[in-house]
Amino acid sequence: MSVLQSEIAVGSEQFEQNKSALLTQIAEIRAIQNKSIEKSYAAKPKFDKRGKILPHERVRLILDADSPFVELCGLVGYGMHDDKDGSDAGGGILAGIGFVSGVRCLVTASNSAIKGGTISPMGVRKTLRIQEIAMKQKLPVVALTESGGANLTYAAEVFTDGGKTFANQARMSAMGIPQISVVHGNATAGGAYQPGLSDYVISVRKKTEMFLAGPPLLLAATGEVASAEELGGAEMHAQVAGTAEYLAENDADGLRIAREVLEHLNWKEQTHSLNESYKEPRYAIEELLGIIPTDPKQPLEMKEIIARLVDDSDFLEFKQEYDSHTVCGWSKIGGLNVGIITNNGPITTQGAAKAAQFIHLCEQTQRPLLFLHNTTGFMVGTDAEQNGIIKHGSKLIQAVTNCTVPKISIVAHGSYGAGNYAMCGRPLDPDFIFAWPNSHVAVMGSAQAGKVLRIVAEEKQKAAGMEPNAQMLDFLEQSTAVKLEQQSTALFNTAMLHDDGIIDPRDTRKVLIFLFKTIYESRARQLNASKFGVSRF
Ligand code: COA
Repeated sequence: MSVLQSEIAVGSEQFEQNKSALLTQIAEIRAIQNKSIEKSYAAKPKFDKRGKILPHERVRLILDADSPFVELCGLVGYGMHDDKDGSDAGGGILAGIGFVSGVRCLVTASNSAIKGGTISPMGVRKTLRIQEIAMKQKLPVVALTESGGANLTYAAEVFTDGGKTFANQARMSAMGIPQISVVHGNATAGGAYQPGLSDYVISVRKKTEMFLAGPPLLLAATGEVASAEELGGAEMHAQVAGTAEYLAENDADGLRIAREVLEHLNWKEQTHSLNESYKEPRYAIEELLGIIPTDPKQPLEMKEIIARLVDDSDFLEFKQEYDSHTVCGWSKIGGLNVGIITNNGPITTQGAAKAAQFIHLCEQTQRPLLFLHNTTGFMVGTDAEQNGIIKHGSKLIQAVTNCTVPKISIVAHGSYGAGNYAMCGRPLDPDFIFAWPNSHVAVMGSAQAGKVLRIVAEEKQKAAGMEPNAQMLDFLEQSTAVKLEQQSTALFNTAMLHDDGIIDPRDTRKVLIFLFKTIYESRARQLNASKFGVSRF
C-alpha cells in the first residue's frame, strides 16, 4: 500500500479563500445552467394545455428512479447563435447516460419547450458527439423526440452535419446498437428521419406529427390540402405506414412502452460484473474546494487531488525519482484499476518519456488511463530543445493517441498548448473529458500570447524603418491577452464542445466511477453486428 499523505492546512486563510472563490464560481455556472431549465419550465402551461409532459420531465420519468445520470454537453452553444445568457444553451437537446429498466443507455430528449426543439448548429455537433459516445461505449440510445427539425435561421450550418447524424444512426443499427424513439409531438423533415432511422418507434396518439412536410409546406409546395393527422398522425404511422411499432395513449404511456422495450432487449444480462467493494479516499472530497486555486497561474499539487479521488488514497507512484513535473501511478477508483497521469507544471523531456513508458505499461495489461490536466505545456528553452523536447513530446502524443486502453480526461487546472494534446485533450479523442469550473484551456497563456504579437508587430515596424508605435503596440498586446483570456475559460470551452461538460470538483469521484464502469462494461460487451442494420419494410 502506498497511501498518500496530505499536507494541506484545512481551514487556513488560503484554504478558505480558495473555497469561497470556487463556491462562487460553481454558483455562477449553476445559475447559467438553471436559465435554460427555467425557460423550459416556463412553457409548462402550454404543455399542460396540450396534454404533454415537459422534456426535462420526460427524461426524469424514463430513467430508473434514484439511479445515477451523467448529463453530457449541457452548456454547449452557451453565448452562441440565439443564446445570450444560457437560456438557449444546450443545442436544443438534453442528453446523458443513465439507466432505463436496468440498462445503461444514452438518453436524449428534444428540448421542445424552447424553439420547438429545433436543432441549432451546436446541437448538431452535440448530437454527433453523443452518437460517438454511444458507438464507442456500445450504449443503446433512447430518444424522446419532438422537434421542428433544423433551426432554419442557421439552416446552412446545420444541413451537412445534420446528414451525418443520420448516417451515424444507420451505422449504429448495423453495429448492433439498438435505438428506440418515442415521438412525443412534431417530427418534421430532419426531425422525422431521426425516428425513421431508429430500430423501434413509439408514436403517441393525437400527439405524434411525423412527416417530411407538414400541412402548410405541402400546400405551398404542391397545392395539396391535408391534415396533420392524415400526413403523420400516430394511428396512421402505427396502422397504415408502419413507421411506428407501438401506439401509446399519451406521453407517459410512450415512456412506459420504451421502458418495456428496454426490458426485453436482452442487454443487461450481458453486462460484466464489476467489483463493488472498495474503500473511500482517506481525505474528504469537499476539501478539493480549498485546495484548487482560482488563478490558473497558481501552482496546484496534484497528489493532493489524487488523495481525494482514489480508493483509500492509495497511489503507487511510477518513477517518482525521475522528473517531478509529470506524475504517473496506479490506483483504483470504485474498485477498478486505473493508471493516472498528471502534471505539476510543464512537461519536460524526462516527463514526456516517463509518461509514454507508463502508457505502454498500461497498454500491456489493458489498464484504463485517467489524465488530470495541470500543465503549462511542454518545456521551452535551449536546454529543452537540445534535449529533444520535440522528439519526446511527439512520442508522448503518439503513445496517447495510439494506445488502445480507455481514456478519461479531467481538466483540473491549466491545460495549455501541445501539453493539452499530450494530456489527452479533446483532439486526442478521450472516451470522456470533463472540466472543472476554474480550469483554463488555450494554445498558450493569454499574457504570453499578447507579448508574442507585440514583439512580432514591433519587429515588423522596425523592419519597415518606422519608429515603434508604443500606443498601438500596447493596445495590440492588451486586446490579444483579453481576448485569449475570455476564450480560455471553462465556460467558453464547454460552449465550444471542447469537453463533455463542466462538473463540480466534489462530484468528480462519483462521475469517474460511473464513467469507468461504463467503459469497463462496454469493453466486455460483444455486439452482434450486421451489414445493413435493421430494416423496417
Ligand atoms: N427554425 C427556427 N425556429 C423555429 C423553427 C425552425 N424550424 N420552428 C419553430 N421555431 C421557433 C419559433 O419561431 C418560435 O420562436 P420564439 O420562441 O422565439 O417565438 C419557437 O421556435 C417556438 O415555435 P412555436 O411554433 O411557437 O412552437 P410550437 O410548439 O407551437 O410548434 C413546431 C413547434 C416545431 C411544431 C412549429 O414551430 C413548426 O411547425 N415549425 C416548422 C417546422 C419545419 O417546417 N421545419 C422544417 C425543418 S427542415
